[in-house]
Amino acid sequence: MKMNDNVPDQYPYLLSCLIPIQRERLYMKVMALNASPRGKNSNTLRLVNAVLAGVKEEGAETDLLDLYSHHIEYCTSCSTCYATGECILVDDFPYIFDSMMNADGIVLGAPNYIDSVPAPMKALFDRLADAIHCQMLTGKYGCSVCTAGGSGEHEVVGYMNKVLTTLGATVVGGIGVAIGRNPSALKKAEKEAHALGKKLAQSIRGEHKYPEQDEIHRQKREYFCQLVKSDKGRFAHEYDWYVQMGWMK
Ligand SMILES: Cc1cc2nc3c(=O)[nH]c(=O)nc-3n(C[C@H](O)[C@H](O)[C@H](O)COP(=O)(O)O)c2cc1C
Repeated sequence: MKMNDNVPDQYPYLLSCLIPIQRERLYMKVMALNASPRGKNSNTLRLVNAVLAGVKEEGAETDLLDLYSHHIEYCTSCSTCYATGECILVDDFPYIFDSMMNADGIVLGAPNYIDSVPAPMKALFDRLADAIHCQMLTGKYGCSVCTAGGSGEHEVVGYMNKVLTTLGATVVGGIGVAIGRNPSALKKAEKEAHALGKKLAQSIRGEHKYPEQDEIHRQKREYFCQLVKSDKGRFAHEYDWYVQMGWMK
């Protein structure tokens, strides 16, 4: 039955096609996480803010979350999330995760702490096992920035970007800078971070293509699909997710 005789039959179909296009062009949201305990004095925050300035210049809305102002418990490996999609721990994780899921782009910022990310960032990553199995950041874009005293900045950027990839997001680049012996390096890195922010927004708009990462994502999704299928009881929520997404083979 037609709901309105003045509206052609194909109208709802055309509308449903147009809405995502308009959304993609007119509305983009990028969220950033900075994992430094030094608040507004954080060196890394300067890079994160430079990325967000580039993002804004391309017309996207931005949101910045200071990870040290939030409470994140350690994963206890109880596996409840695999079965139900819910975590038993009570803290700020759901708020942070919702913010990631509501964004088209994600920026990770962290100082180098002993050649890795600071503990709250790692605690957040450990809480994302279900999201990784479900490849929940599929279709999103991301990048990472790191400052270090003397070394290891590129390794930390590489690590954070790998986490984004593992979650299903497409990585558009990263900036790492060691500022201990050369404080002026941060100024130069801010310029690069600004350009990275622009690229992030342009990538969300579809202006850059990443065929190699598309293939990596295809393989990862296939791998996790098989894992979930291998134990439907243990991974009940994840099995349902794959079915709902039309990804179950
Ligand atoms: C606990 C701790 C561990 C650190 N480990 C390293 C390190 O392994 N290598 C390095 O080059 N700098 C290291 N640094 C220096 C910081 O990475 C550097 O000062 C950074 O710019 C701080 O960023 P922030 O101002 O955003 O907190 C460490 C600093 C702290 C407090």
